[in-house]
Amino acid sequence: MQFIYNSLMNQKIYIETYGCQMNVADSETVMAILKSKDFFAEQNIENADVIILNTCSVRENAEQRIWNRLDFLKGLKKRNKKIKIGIIGCMAQRISEKLLEHEAVDFVAGPDSYRFLVDLINEADLHTKVSNTNFDINETYSGIESIKENKNKISCFVSITRGCNNFCTYCIVPYTRGRERSRSLEDILHEINILKSLNYKEITLLGQNVNSYLYSTSNQDINFPKLICKVAETLPDLRIRFTTSHPKDISNDLIYAIAETPNICNHIHLPVQSGSNKILDLMNRKYTHELYLERIEKIKTIIPNCGLSTDMFCGFSNESEQDFLESLNLLKTVEFDSAFLFKYSVREGTYAAKNFIDDVPEELKMERLNEMIKLQTSISLKKNTEKIGENFDVLVEGFSKRSENDMFGRTEHNNVVVFPKNNCKIGTIVKTKIIEATSATLLGKVVIDK
Ligand code: SAH
Ligand code: SF4
Ligand code: F3S
Repeated sequence: MQFIYNSLMNQKIYIETYGCQMNVADSETVMAILKSKDFFAEQNIENADVIILNTCSVRENAEQRIWNRLDFLKGLKKRNKKIKIGIIGCMAQRISEKLLEHEAVDFVAGPDSYRFLVDLINEADLHTKVSNTNFDINETYSGIESIKENKNKISCFVSITRGCNNFCTYCIVPYTRGRERSRSLEDILHEINILKSLNYKEITLLGQNVNSYLYSTSNQDINFPKLICKVAETLPDLRIRFTTSHPKDISNDLIYAIAETPNICNHIHLPVQSGSNKILDLMNRKYTHELYLERIEKIKTIIPNCGLSTDMFCGFSNESEQDFLESLNLLKTVEFDSAFLFKYSVREGTYAAKNFIDDVPEELKMERLNEMIKLQTSISLKKNTEKIGENFDVLVEGFSKRSENDMFGRTEHNNVVVFPKNNCKIGTIVKTKIIEATSATLLGKVVIDK
């Protein structure tokens, strides 16, 4: 056994990450686990001994991308039979058996099984496919220091909770990620101190619903507002962000903490999903349109100019023209800076898949989605145009994709600003004046403070 292990040492690992920021953070955890066992990170897929896809199941098209990718990888494997291919993440958890049937797949691991990846990689061979999709309610990957690879990166993610207990009726996440659990305060502070020493300039605290973070010890209960203040105080020179907040749980304490703490960014991502109370009820979101607007008003009053973004999708079961209009009206009322807009995709195993009929025809879903996108694009353009002439501090993230002469970064409100490079360094904060705007980007120039 020892001999087999030795013969497999020094293998090169290539990881591709799909889906949400949680998966980005998880891929780093996976790399940290594998590196501690003498595996190496490889950036070029052609040179890899082990290829891992960290997958998402949130909508059908997210899974379709993986099936297409696997068909491509089948070709790569024909040329080099020694390559091992593994599927991890939400799709691995949801349909492990089906994935193992694919010619290219050698091993499968669910989100709570990453500590066993080395064994899975070692056990998988030409004749044996292996999987581990056990849930572990205690698994928060404590003691594993995620390795943030790219030296140019100035921003990174830190998971504070895993799993979800909300069971929104359309959503697969509670089934792929298991029950919610919070990481210990000590673990989080340990990780962020490492990130500080690595010179990161911005961290984003992650959870499906960060507001339900709770870490209890014999003498104190740390909730999310307390945690984020502690993180902000520990890293006074870094920008602190968080996602995602559930509207039913976002507290006044959090809103005041954001307003009062300079390095907590004034941006809140607050997914609304629908503007219709009938649909919100069918979704089991546990808030009404009115309660959502009350929270937004509170945010706008306590944190003037707070950046606001949301998620919304159309075409859920029973969504009438009237329900859809209420969603459009909500977009108009709030005027989010940006929104992630989707059309409903039935996820097998969810409450909605078992109990509701997917009764909005595909063409109508598409029509409604296009209408939402058109409306939000015009709102984003209006919001961005209003910023022309204003000055914003921008954390420089890198060079613009379009031109080597331009750089880009984000304001604390999460607006992207592109500006001529002007000797600016990645990782520094520069003051920019906005001179032009599109619906997605602000164009600025650097202003020198006198
Ligand atoms: N925890 C976050 C969201 C996680 S999933 C929250 O509660 O808001 C990210 C987004 O995908 C959701 O906000 C929702 O807008 C969308 N989504 C989730 N399931 C979906 C489905 N079955 N069809 C279409 N969109 C979906
Ligand atoms: Fe899914 Fe709802 Fe949990 Fe978000 S809160 S992950 S939408 S079940
Ligand atoms: Fe996708 Fe899983 Fe994230 S389903 S959105 S990768 S939690």
